[in-house]
Amino acid sequence: VGLAAVGGGGFVTYQMISAKVDTVGSVDFTNPLRIPDLEPGQVDDSGTRIFDLHMAPGESRIKPGSPTRTWGFNGDHLGPTLRARRGEVVRVNVRNSLPETSSVHWHGMHLPAIMDGGPHQSVEPLDTWTPEWTIDQPAATLWYHPHPHGSTAKHVYQGLAGLFILDDDEVDNLDLPDEYGVDDIPLIIQDRAFDGDNQLDDAANLFSGIGVLGDEILVNGTHSPYLDVTTRRVRLRLLNGSNARVFNFGFADDRPFVVIGSDGGLLPAPHSLRRLQLSPGERAELLVDFTPGETVVLRSYSPDLRTDFFESRSHGGDDTFDILQFRAADTLTDVESIPDELVPVPAIDIEQAVTTRTFEMAGYSLNRETMDMNRIDFAVNKDDIEIWEIENQDASVHNFHVHDVQFQVLSIGDQPPPPHEAGWKDTVQVYHGSPVRIALQFKDFSDPNMPYMCHCHILYHEDQGLMAQFVVLDEGEDIGSVPSGHDDH
Ligand code: C2O
Ligand code: CU
Ligand code: CU
Repeated sequence: VGLAAVGGGGFVTYQMISAKVDTVGSVDFTNPLRIPDLEPGQVDDSGTRIFDLHMAPGESRIKPGSPTRTWGFNGDHLGPTLRARRGEVVRVNVRNSLPETSSVHWHGMHLPAIMDGGPHQSVEPLDTWTPEWTIDQPAATLWYHPHPHGSTAKHVYQGLAGLFILDDDEVDNLDLPDEYGVDDIPLIIQDRAFDGDNQLDDAANLFSGIGVLGDEILVNGTHSPYLDVTTRRVRLRLLNGSNARVFNFGFADDRPFVVIGSDGGLLPAPHSLRRLQLSPGERAELLVDFTPGETVVLRSYSPDLRTDFFESRSHGGDDTFDILQFRAADTLTDVESIPDELVPVPAIDIEQAVTTRTFEMAGYSLNRETMDMNRIDFAVNKDDIEIWEIENQDASVHNFHVHDVQFQVLSIGDQPPPPHEAGWKDTVQVYHGSPVRIALQFKDFSDPNMPYMCHCHILYHEDQGLMAQFVVLDEGEDIGSVPSGHDDH
């Protein structure tokens, strides 16, 4: 680590330049990949699917030596994979046994703002919060994580995150690998920094201005993981669950893989790639083929951050990681061929768009303001089609996440989105000098008093205030007043 003087425009600033992190070839893959428990919940007499999530501190054996103090849902670290089906009513009993106020947000879920688990739905220590909503969106790999005002980075970094898989008939009919933990593998990928006593070091690299960047990778909380493969083709549900790090996934032998899904569901058609970049909060579903007896490593190559050398350096733009080793058995079960078409993703009709909004991300602010819990920043009309144009005015790395709806990317700079980003998205990378235009439509669940959030998903930025609040109104309805403070239930 060193300091470099960066001159330009008549002033000189000092930036932390991190040494390149490179774990390629030095990870020994000694631990079987942990698969988060699949939690189908309990269905009551009325057909409501009920889950229990209990947030509490714990201790995990992550590395040789001292156990690591972690936080988890229903266990010491991370959380179970919740799973529900389109059309079902779900209810979650969220109990907080942490020493701090928290919340649980259903990232990617279409639901009423009061159930969203954002900063207005705090759960105080020893309290239980019980949101209930109807699953009304396509099959997808969503996730859940705390969202307490100003402390999201800490709560996620301590280990609070889990997947929420949604199913529907359309995807069931596709003959994709779907045996959870066997040929349908969840991968929550997170960078972590450990201190000399194996404790999570959340001050690591804070000077970069993007929060913690770790130099080691955990997959589902497993350090140095390997996975035994028993089928010719495996479906991977990837989540970049890092606070700040962008990953650029690929295999060590450069084999192609097939992207079948983005944040909000399957793509219209499979698309073959050798590299796939995901920023914090983004997901993708992939299919990868294996031959009997082989081993191959999933890596993260240097991400393309499209920023200057010094920024790129201090944001991990040079870093490379060995992430997970796949060990194929000598005999592998055969699988169906990949369908040519997946699910229709009807284009949002932008001819009908009535509003265009601009969002400028600069430093820790969005449109020159930092988040205020008591200020609703804007209102959208229910059913209107809107175009949002998002700009990154910094050399820094940002992305943009919208609560409640999945959007469609119209363009990135002057280019159409690449095929793997042309489906439903809730989080998108935004590069400096390359504005992203998205189309969205808020269809229901309006409440003049209870806002949804949109923000950068680099958690340090979000906590510092790069976040805005909006409501969805009926035409002619006025913005209400936000319930004050952040301890309303
Ligand atoms: Cu994944 Cu507002 O967050
Ligand atoms: Cu979200
Ligand atoms: Cu940001």
